Amino acid sequence: MGKGLLEIESLTREEIDAILARSKDFQPGPGQAFKRFDILKGRTVVNLFFEASTRTRTSFEIAAKRLGADTLSITASGSSVSKGESLVDTLNTLGAMRPDAIVMRHEASGAPHFLSRYLPIPIVNAGDGTHEHPTQALLDARTILDRRGTLEGLRIAIIGDIAHSRVARSNIFLLSKYGVQVVLCGPASLLPREMGQIAPGVSLTNNIEAAIRDVDVIMMLRVQLERQHEAAFPANEYFQFFGLRPEHLELAKPDVVVMHPGPINRGREISSEVADSQRSAILNQVENGIAVRMAVLERVLAG
Ligand code: NCD
Repeated sequence: MGKGLLEIESLTREEIDAILARSKDFQPGPGQAFKRFDILKGRTVVNLFFEASTRTRTSFEIAAKRLGADTLSITASGSSVSKGESLVDTLNTLGAMRPDAIVMRHEASGAPHFLSRYLPIPIVNAGDGTHEHPTQALLDARTILDRRGTLEGLRIAIIGDIAHSRVARSNIFLLSKYGVQVVLCGPASLLPREMGQIAPGVSLTNNIEAAIRDVDVIMMLRVQLERQHEAAFPANEYFQFFGLRPEHLELAKPDVVVMHPGPINRGREISSEVADSQRSAILNQVENGIAVRMAVLERVLAG
């Protein structure tokens, strides 16, 4: 069946290195516009999003266009999915129109893996439930490399709603392949103990100060209320215990990089002072998303 990009977990370090290296060719120089290519001229990429998305969907669309591909985006609310069509039937219908690749986001963990067994078209996972968000981890790695030059030997804290975060899982899988020490932090109800076992080099703490001490990078996560079926913590105390504030940065390395996949909730998991500070790489992450997705689409479609 079609070879796409479903997850980070099963990729080798060499495969990740190749994508990250190629993404560098697609980054614009300082003050320059993105370059256009015709590597995917005549190819069609369908974006199929069953969940809300601003940056990921536009980023994939822009990436495909900058490589010369034709793109179209379908969202669940505007499609026959809202008329009760099953996922397999929707995908078979799209498949019959012979797109060259399908970029897909779905609320069910494993949905793109399931479909890739049935369709001869490469599927790129743009986030499946609480499982993985591979291109987010790749663009995060690109952003860290741009600032730090290497991933090896770094200490990185991932703070927030770990339990529901596909971003955390993909990042843990990627970073552990490079020997990064990953510290996961959040309220006990959002920090399952098993997360300490999913990859080597992962430790857990419920204390934000302990998590941040001497780290090179802080990755903040949104509290994903849409995935929580009961209150996991008292909402108005979250910021006090797990919100990132300027005083926390003093505990980290002096040149600590602050990241967040977005959408950010100011005053909930991160203060505006930190989000808008020199240390924040949040908009660099967004920018790098395009270059990294260009590298991924090229690899998936042009070999
Ligand atoms: C994340 C996602 O959807 O998994 N956002 C993103 O893709 N940039 C994280 C989130 O929704 O909080």
